[in-house]
Formats: sequence, structure tokens, C-alpha cells
Amino acid sequence: MDIIDDVIREKLHSHVALIRQVSEYIINSGGKRLRPALVILSAGASGYSGKHQYNLAAVVEFIHTATLLHDDVVDESELRRNKETANALFGNAASVLVGDFLYSRAFQMMVEVDNMRVMQVLADATNTIAEGEVLQLLNCRDPNVEEDNYLRVIRFKTAKLFEAASRLGAILGNATPEEEEALSVYGMHLGTAFQLIDDMLDYTGDDQDTGKNLGDDLAEGKPTLPLIYAMRSGTPEQANIIRNAIVKGGEDGFQPVLDVIQQTAALDYAKKCAHAEVATATAAIASLPESEYKDCLLQLASFAVTRNH
Ligand code: IPE
Ligand code: IPE
Ligand code: MG
Ligand code: MG
Repeated sequence: MDIIDDVIREKLHSHVALIRQVSEYIINSGGKRLRPALVILSAGASGYSGKHQYNLAAVVEFIHTATLLHDDVVDESELRRNKETANALFGNAASVLVGDFLYSRAFQMMVEVDNMRVMQVLADATNTIAEGEVLQLLNCRDPNVEEDNYLRVIRFKTAKLFEAASRLGAILGNATPEEEEALSVYGMHLGTAFQLIDDMLDYTGDDQDTGKNLGDDLAEGKPTLPLIYAMRSGTPEQANIIRNAIVKGGEDGFQPVLDVIQQTAALDYAKKCAHAEVATATAAIASLPESEYKDCLLQLASFAVTRNH
């Protein structure tokens, strides 16, 4: 991870001071660096020990960081990684434009690896993430969004990059098609579980731990799984409280919505779904040869559902 951080720092370089200021601000704020870890671990699990893994790990972190810069503008979020968001500090325009810089820097770096499959995977993933964010925009303030639609959004906006990160490691390691598929399926389900938990934490987390403001999703009128389930399983009165809060957005409805979520055990349901995704992820890589990398991938899967940050 230290090597990856060195690559990240070196590649953030730009002659434009504002680009350095904004990008170093968000990168230096930390973050779990999960997606780079996935590249390294799946490369290791596939027997790769060359240098490209560090560049690709930095590439996926850049793509992730670009999506966060854009996402916080769209979500009007004010807190990330326990600090003011870049949009709160530097404004929406700077966040959007530096996000574009990071995307395009990621593309310059992936070309250096000179492997058409790598470029294909990353081009597809980036495009799918954008589709996911736009699909989510269409769902905002719509209380009729159902579980399958919600799942599609999170597969696109979040799981796709986890899938790409795991697949890239396999490609670098010249894994067999079966092993590459196993690692990709693992990444996709891990990413889905990860976002399911993220959406739960937006209701029950501790903002000190998550580093983000609770209730951002409801304020944006985002129909996430806890709400979808509570509407589906609650009484007509309970469903109405949620429907109205989604349509209206804003922060006022948070406590009543939280009450209905608790009364309907909606978080238990979301957690059960996350556990099922992790079980599928774990099963997908069961037949990979034993290694410390595989062990770490399995541990990462448990972390995805037990995490509070
Ligand atoms: C945040 O991702 C965005 C989601 C997909 C939920 P992370 O929780 O991985 O963010 P950092 O990089 O650790 O801050
Ligand atoms: C994840 O969605 C964002 C992306 C994958 C771009 P969220 O909106 O839930 O992420 P946070 O909660 O702001 O980190
Ligand atoms: Mg957000
Ligand atoms: Mg969130």
C-alpha cells in the first residue's frame, strides 16, 4: 500500500495549482483504499508479482476518487472522510473539473500498461459507473422504485469497480478464464454487499466512524433498500411515512423514518441480503489455490458486512 501511495502522489502532479490542491486534499484525507487492495490481492492470488499491479491499483483509486468528487456534488454532501467535502471547501465547479482530471489521468496511466484487455475492463467499468449514477438520479424522490431496480443501481455504481479491480489482478496474473471469472464474480458480489452496508450505515452508523453525515440519502430522497423493504412490509400508515419522506426529501423526516425502519426490522433484512452477497462472493473463489492472498480476500469479504466505517 505504501508503494501505491507513492504512485498516487507522483501521478497527482499537475502544473495547475488548483488541481494539486483539490486532489491532494481528498486523497490525503485517507479512505480505506479497498479497491487498490483488491487489485493487489487478486493479482497475488493469480501468481503475479510484477510492477503493473501498483499502477492499476492507483488507477482504480483515481477512478473511485473521481466518482466521489462528482457524487458529493450531486448528493450535496458536506462531510467525507471526517472532513469537509471538496465541494463544500472549493465549490462544485472545482470538484467536477478535478474529478474529470482524475478520470483522464487514470486513462493515461492505464494506457501505459499497454494491455488491451486491461483498457477494455476499465473503459467498461467507468462507463457503467456513470450509467449507475444517472439511473440513481432518475430514482431520486421516486417511492415506487423496487428492489430489483435498486440492486441494478448499486451493481452499476459500486459493484462494477470492485469487479473490475478483482478482474484486473487476474488478467495481470494470466489467470485461466475460470479463475478470472471466479475473481470477477467475487468482486461483484463483494461490491454489492459493500454498498448494501453503506446504505444501512446512512441510517444507523456513527458519523464519527463513517466520516460522513448520516441521513444524506434520505435528504436526497434516495430510495435505498431499508426504505424499500419498510414500505413493502409495513402497514399502510408506516409505508406512507416513508413515501412522503422520499418524495419530499430534506432532513425533517429522518426520525419518523428511522422509527418505521426499526419497527419493520428493515435493517435486519438489508443485512441479510448483504450476508447472502458475501456468501456468494466467498463461494466463488473457494476453488482458487490456497494462498495468503486468497485468505485476505476472504477476510475482506467478512469485513464488508461487519464494518462500521
Ligand atoms: C464510498 O466508498 C462510496 C461507496 C461506494 C459506498 P468507500 O467507503 O470505499 O470510501 P473510502 O475510499 O473508504 O473513503
Ligand atoms: C456511492 O454512493 C457513490 C459511488 C459509487 C460513486 P453513495 O452516494 O452512497 O456514496 P457515499 O455514501 O456518498 O460515500
Ligand atoms: Mg453520496
Ligand atoms: Mg452512502
